Amino acid sequence: MVQLDQQAAQAPILTRGSGPLDQALRARARRVVPGGMYGHLDVEMTHLPVNFPQFYETAHGATVVDVDGNEYVDLMCSWGPVLLGYAHPGVEEAVRRQAAIGDINNGPSARMVELAELLVDTVSHADWAVFGKNGTDATTACCTIARAATGRRKVLKATTSYHGSNPPFTPIMSGVTAEDRANIVEFAYNDLASLEAAVAAHEGDVAAVIVTPFFHDGFGDLALVDPAFAAGVRAVCDRIGAVLILDEVRAGFRLDLRGSWESLGIRPDLSAFSKALANGYPISAVTGTDALREAANGVYLTGSFWLQAVPMAAAIATITEAARTDAVGRMTTLGERLLTGLRSIATSTGIPMIVSGEPTMPKIRFEGDPEMRLANLFCGTALEHGAFLHPWHNWFISAAHTEQSIDLALAAAAAGADVVRAAL
Ligand SMILES: Cc1ncc(COP(=O)(O)O)c(C=O)c1O
Repeated sequence: MVQLDQQAAQAPILTRGSGPLDQALRARARRVVPGGMYGHLDVEMTHLPVNFPQFYETAHGATVVDVDGNEYVDLMCSWGPVLLGYAHPGVEEAVRRQAAIGDINNGPSARMVELAELLVDTVSHADWAVFGKNGTDATTACCTIARAATGRRKVLKATTSYHGSNPPFTPIMSGVTAEDRANIVEFAYNDLASLEAAVAAHEGDVAAVIVTPFFHDGFGDLALVDPAFAAGVRAVCDRIGAVLILDEVRAGFRLDLRGSWESLGIRPDLSAFSKALANGYPISAVTGTDALREAANGVYLTGSFWLQAVPMAAAIATITEAARTDAVGRMTTLGERLLTGLRSIATSTGIPMIVSGEPTMPKIRFEGDPEMRLANLFCGTALEHGAFLHPWHNWFISAAHTEQSIDLALAAAAAGADVVRAAL
């Protein structure tokens, strides 16, 4: 474990970050919300730098503003949903137009059909689409459809891969029973032998393999998918008659609008999309192949707000604009600039920072730093210098970033690196 020079480690957190309004809201929240905040956004429970704000007021382009009025170049994009930039004019215009006509009614609007048509035209494997609200709705529906189609029970997932907050998938076991998890079987990402072992242990009962486009979970480094693994997962599913579910909730539309494994020539049977689909408006989608159409039609898919027209209008505007402007190409170029800059900061300062992941979804980690003290020092200092960089989750690039905003984030990262070096 890393030993810090305590004086140097405590020096930097001075002016920007959680201020009086943020602190007052936290105190009020603690009285009326259990713990004051829940889930991964609880800045105290998840051990974020002490100056990280909990509450935000507004956001535009690639900038977020906390409740105390501090502005940051943002590299979280609301944890993924913001693809084209906060308050994107084209998306907001589509939202205003739809809201003026109607959002929720006795049934869906024409936007539902238009959006399904657009997804079928955009996502290569898709012959149909159905909609929900959250990513968990979509991954849950994928599993249910796969079980309905195969008449089998087991869903195979990679260890520590996150697929939702429901009992089968949540990483926190409080309130979860063994029965809730009885049909989930784990294997190691990028390890075909472990997938084969999981299949062999449940022969004849594997309904689906659910997998993310690359390994983007846990507190270690991210791992790009091994093309042989992706091809192997496809081959295993074909051999045993199981459904291949690609969980695109986090990576969808940041690697390839056609589907994240399209450049590998691998197509899933079902995909779960959410976050980036509507540039921040609440919607998720399952896309699937003709072979699963009947099974999808047979399962009970519903939610009171699932057919809201406004998020559907936002999704149509988002996908159309992303395709028109080659948002993925632009984000990739900017992400490469960020990755190169971060790696050169690590080399020139000699700090033990490892940068991993896809250019549009990078992550940092410090060697020998299991309690994330260096990561927190680095990100806390970067925040002080005007950039929101996360110490343990992957970051997200949006198409609203510019070379200038990436360079500003890199300057803030360089300040963080100097403080880490001084503290080592
Ligand atoms: C890969 C993946 N799947 C599923 C989910 C669940 O999505 P939601 O939080 O919208 O329910 C997430 C959320 O981060 C995710 O990253």
